[in-house]
Amino acid sequence: SDAPLILGIESSCDETGVGIVRGTELLANTVSTSMEQHVRFGGVIPEIASRAHLEAMVPTLQRALDTAGVGLDDVDGLAVTSGPGLSGALMVGVAAAKALAVATGKPLYAVNHLVAHVGVGVLDGGELPDRLGALLVSGGHTEILKIDSLTEDVELLGATIDDAAGEAYDKVARLLGLGYPGGPVIDRLAKEGDGKAIRFPRGLSLPKFVGTAEAPGKHRYDFSFSGLKTAVARFVEQYQAKGLEVPVADVAASFQEAVVDVITKKAVMACTEHGMENLLLGGGVAANSRLRQLLQARCDSAGIALRIPKPSLCTDNGAMIAALAAQVVAAGVAPSGLGFATDPGQP
Ligand code: KG4
Ligand code: ZN
Repeated sequence: SDAPLILGIESSCDETGVGIVRGTELLANTVSTSMEQHVRFGGVIPEIASRAHLEAMVPTLQRALDTAGVGLDDVDGLAVTSGPGLSGALMVGVAAAKALAVATGKPLYAVNHLVAHVGVGVLDGGELPDRLGALLVSGGHTEILKIDSLTEDVELLGATIDDAAGEAYDKVARLLGLGYPGGPVIDRLAKEGDGKAIRFPRGLSLPKFVGTAEAPGKHRYDFSFSGLKTAVARFVEQYQAKGLEVPVADVAASFQEAVVDVITKKAVMACTEHGMENLLLGGGVAANSRLRQLLQARCDSAGIALRIPKPSLCTDNGAMIAALAAQVVAAGVAPSGLGFATDPGQP
């Protein structure tokens, strides 16, 4: 195709990503992660992540160019995540992108990480429908978005008020002694347990938070996972205090059921109430087998078409940044210039 060649840089958390796309065609998606360096802390340490980005940026860029078989001269536009994310981590990517823009004279586009999790959908399954809901679940975010235009009209309907869903998986895995990251381990272990064994709390599901469609509560589409994490901790402590063996598989399955039940219910409710017949699932937790299964079933019942990009496009990566920028360019939006700052808290 003759669509412009776009190179995207992602560095908002622990993944250094460089992706290259032409329109909806994926040419390279190279990712380096500092995850191993965070394992012993049980979570991402911002300072370590920033340093790792600095080391990984140029090699990752070079590998992406090699994979795509192009040089910097061939690139028509550059893109980078400006937020949300870890401040220092974002700065490394933005500084790299600005340096490239100065060195090559190519236009630079600053993009929103969350919207990019949705925009990446075009790389797996082609053009996205005009009106679309998105459920983003990862170690860093848990949001429901309403998208009428990726470039002009994205509304945040709800978000977590404390921990992200993936973060809850990581913390619960840690207190069960299962290691980090916790998502994949709990996903696996839960298959051997009974999700109905223990009734853990569904955060922000009480009528006073949810309200009704006509009179929505303050937290109708919001999430909370810290109470759930505490409930799991108390449960485990009680078993240990009595000298009993903790039924780890049942705890994992029941915890997972509590997370997945509430996020799928609220996502489907948001779609139904906002006339969104399409839903896209993104973020690292999109790999979760129970989430995929329950979300598919609930979308089917509600007549919502569900799209889940392949896992390498769901976790943080550079192709999502390039893919969104390609749509921004196609919409005729002006480049961002070199004067923009990182925006760690940008919604
Ligand atoms: O998108 P991602 O790679 O990085 C960000 O956090 O932005 O997501 C990583 C998160 C971790 O919290 C990890 O535990 C979780 O996604 N995760 C899962 C699964 N695979 C990864 N959570 C539940 N089930 C999984 N199969
Ligand atoms: Zn992300």
